[in-house]
Amino acid sequence: MAKKKRAAEESPEFIKCLKEWLKLEDETIEHANATIRKTKNKLVKMTMEMIKKDSEKHKEMQQMLIDSITKEALVLTPEDLSCLSDTLNKHLAAEAKTLELADEALNNSELFLTRYILSYLIADEQKHHGLLAKLNELKRATIFVT
Ligand SMILES: [Fe+2]
Ligand SMILES: [Fe+2]
Repeated sequence: MAKKKRAAEESPEFIKCLKEWLKLEDETIEHANATIRKTKNKLVKMTMEMIKKDSEKHKEMQQMLIDSITKEALVLTPEDLSCLSDTLNKHLAAEAKTLELADEALNNSELFLTRYILSYLIADEQKHHGLLAKLNELKRATIFVT
């Protein structure tokens, strides 16, 4: 019997890369903490706090990927999503409205620092909308996503 082709994710290189990346997130958190200790500036502090939160989030996601290879594979079926259809659509609409407001705020602003914060927020909101849109598309898929 022919052996099932292994996914690229099962290669030692892939896991090694993810583990190295995960470790680097801790370093990033340390750097952010060092900056927070050194500065009294609110904006710098907030930027560092955001990077820290993102790093924590990245660590969780990297760990999830590692576990999906070493422990239990991730699966997503159209059924998983079809019962969420209504909820996802409402969420998608809310994120779209958020983006409109964020754009409006950006258009009505001129100060560098206001725009600095707003651009960060807009990038995040676009990301949320994009993630949901992708899930929404998968609702119509007829195959398992692994
Ligand atoms: Fe990161
Ligand atoms: Fe959002």
